[in-house]
Amino acid sequence: MISNVLSQRVNNLNESASLNTAALAQKLISEGRDIVNFSIGEPDFNTPDAASLEAIKAITMGKTHYSNPQGNLDLREAICEKLQRDNELAYSTDEVIVGSGGKHIIYHTFLATIDPGDQVIVPAPYWVSYPDIASLCGGEPIIVQPDPVSLKLTSTELEKNITQKTKWVVLNSPSNPTGAVYTEAELQSIADVLRKHEHVLILSDEIYEKFVYPPAKHISLINVAPDLKERTLIVNGASKGYAMTGWRIGFGAGAKTLVSAIKKLISQTTTCPSSISQEAAKVAFGDSQPSIVMRDSFQVRRDTAVAILSSSSFLSEIHKPEGAFYLFLNLEKIIGSKTAVGRVLVTDNDIVNFLLEEANVATVSGSAYGMSPYLRISFACSIEQIKKGCQSIVDALSTLQAG
Ligand SMILES: Cc1ncc(COP(=O)(O)O)c(C=O)c1O
Repeated sequence: MISNVLSQRVNNLNESASLNTAALAQKLISEGRDIVNFSIGEPDFNTPDAASLEAIKAITMGKTHYSNPQGNLDLREAICEKLQRDNELAYSTDEVIVGSGGKHIIYHTFLATIDPGDQVIVPAPYWVSYPDIASLCGGEPIIVQPDPVSLKLTSTELEKNITQKTKWVVLNSPSNPTGAVYTEAELQSIADVLRKHEHVLILSDEIYEKFVYPPAKHISLINVAPDLKERTLIVNGASKGYAMTGWRIGFGAGAKTLVSAIKKLISQTTTCPSSISQEAAKVAFGDSQPSIVMRDSFQVRRDTAVAILSSSSFLSEIHKPEGAFYLFLNLEKIIGSKTAVGRVLVTDNDIVNFLLEEANVATVSGSAYGMSPYLRISFACSIEQIKKGCQSIVDALSTLQAG
């Protein structure tokens, strides 16, 4: 192949580490290895029947054509009703944009607003795609370190990192990869800082909203700071909360000017989200019951995973996540340990490889999320797999000689 085919832009881009690990685990499974896959970033539940049936109806009724690039009006109405009912937030249909997944919305949002050199504040540990999407759009990701215990963004660190070049601050609650859920007081103190910097836009990624374990509660930044509504884009969608990752429906809710700009871009890139998926999502957003069933099941799985893993002296202080379906394990006590064949585990990647080889468990290293030494375990798999995989981790760790 001729050289210099690829752009600098794409050469500088990383592939999604979590998708890569999930693909590797799938490959090993297809080769016959009995791998427990803890790298999956999606609910293992089926899409609610009512949504699937609506899609079938859409196909048979010929709703298979291009739609409005902003998303069908009746879907945007359903999203406004969902925002009002679930989040107590009032948005009109021209403040809502529908895209092909939350990631698609984030990409088009940054593309619509970032000029070269603009900075995007990304609190670590972060969902793998934020820094790469910001860079792809010409921005400079500024990684901000969290509170060492809660792993949440603090208002002090936020304030220190805001400059004249700051265009966006990304907030993600519940968080991928930590499952942390911001409290009203924490959001209030972040809002106090943001209020002082009027040029800063806020991207509030609430895609895991449906998976918050009582007594924790999902609160949007706009609930505590309605005055920031004009410069905040809420990102959410059907993927996680409604088990619809493959349908590719996400949405943004924010200022009309921003929504119009994203709509213009989408009209020139993907044209519109899938017409069939839009019909399904319209029904899904109207019923929270399937999400509650999933949440209750994830809560049992979370508790089971934490109980088994905590029995290892290497993992004795696991923080139970309040949301999402991930455990983010601190590996400090394992770093420096020796395996049975005398190999020293120096990084979190070494530990991920050790667990894949010795425990047949696929996980993702904290370095993918900008924070080491950590490990992300997804508990979006069956309780049997959780019991088996977590016990294998504990057994494999017991063969290590502490460093
Ligand atoms: C924090 C976060 N935001 C956004 C997304 C994007 O979701 P989707 O594009 O499937 O809607 C993901 C997916 O893993 C995520 O973890």
